[in-house]
Amino acid sequence: MRIQHPGYVGPRKRLREALDEHRPGHMVFLIGPSGVGKTTMRHSVMQEMFGKPAYWGRGRMPAIETYVTLPKNAYFSSRELAKAMLNELHAPTLDWLFRGGNFDPSTEQAIKAELAECASTWNVLRPRQATEGEYWGMIQRSLPVRGCKYVSLDQVTALLVNHRDTSPADHILNLMVLAETTGVMFIMTGVQSASRLWAVHSELRRRVVTVWVPPYSERRPQDRLPFLRLLTSLSAKYSLSRKNLLLGMPSDILAATGGVFSEIVQLLDRAKDRAGAEDRSHMSKRDIEACYYADADLKALWRDIDSFEESMLAGDVSKRSALIQARWAAAAPVGANTE
Ligand SMILES: Nc1ncnc2c1ncn2[C@@H]1O[C@H](COP(=O)(O)OP(=O)(O)OP(=O)(O)O)[C@@H](O)[C@H]1O
Ligand SMILES: [Mg+2]
Repeated sequence: MRIQHPGYVGPRKRLREALDEHRPGHMVFLIGPSGVGKTTMRHSVMQEMFGKPAYWGRGRMPAIETYVTLPKNAYFSSRELAKAMLNELHAPTLDWLFRGGNFDPSTEQAIKAELAECASTWNVLRPRQATEGEYWGMIQRSLPVRGCKYVSLDQVTALLVNHRDTSPADHILNLMVLAETTGVMFIMTGVQSASRLWAVHSELRRRVVTVWVPPYSERRPQDRLPFLRLLTSLSAKYSLSRKNLLLGMPSDILAATGGVFSEIVQLLDRAKDRAGAEDRSHMSKRDIEACYYADADLKALWRDIDSFEESMLAGDVSKRSALIQARWAAAAPVGANTE
């Protein structure tokens, strides 16, 4: 069950709008700290938009999704990404479609049986020893044949982990060219450092829409009430020693979790287990406090949150604007240069 908490609803709406306006060759970046709910949100939007396979048409599929993983040698490999995307085009797992259990079991089973058939056929047909360029060529031909309009890549910060002789800019530009030639739109999901991926090229910057998924933050006074509302709705899901236990300690909970949704839920789950282990049915303030992270983990959590907040801040144009004004003021006034 997805909880429609305020920190989820706003960015989800923006993501939906960004994808509704399908712009071939463009990329939508979904950026937020780990555990804030990006993958959950993306799947929910994709299911809403393309959740009815019966309408796709035979052999067609509006979207594919894969994770950018790092192979054993720990560097990103463009060839492995191409292979993973090609697999999804020919033997899709459709993980994004099934997560959250939207289908009745018999429909899901029927679709999965069909997918298993695709997978065994693909296993026979798939190229064994293609070069990286050949793989990308096959993807380029398959995307339009499949009617695929969206390619979702999760954990895109892996694109930044490179050999000394390759640059993340190369990979992202290759993807941009692929998007342009095939008319797809990329959905790129990652934590804050992913913002370095589009900072490298102005060509890219113009083609990127960013949807930020912030945690609840004390930096934003307007987050206070939604955060309290979230604590109220979570209070109804746990047995608490006092009805207002969570509302009595909002700053502690924010400090202990960075305001990240799944950190809050996990903290409460740990406290619940702790009470359960001592045969108490209601968790107390002491249970919650005993389940805070150790100092080093908390520091790492806050370091990530702070770096996210820094990357989300709008760029500062004031200095350059002052410079422009000064230079233009020194130039001839408008209209003075007539013959
Ligand atoms: N709105 C929501 N309602 C219910 N559960 C949620 C919601 N958002 C997130 N969760 C749960 O919180 C956990 C983390 O969410 P999710 O995996 O979507 O985060 P993420 O931002 O993608 O994290 P990462 O960057 O680590 O991949 C998951 O177990 C998910 O089920
Ligand atoms: Mg995720």
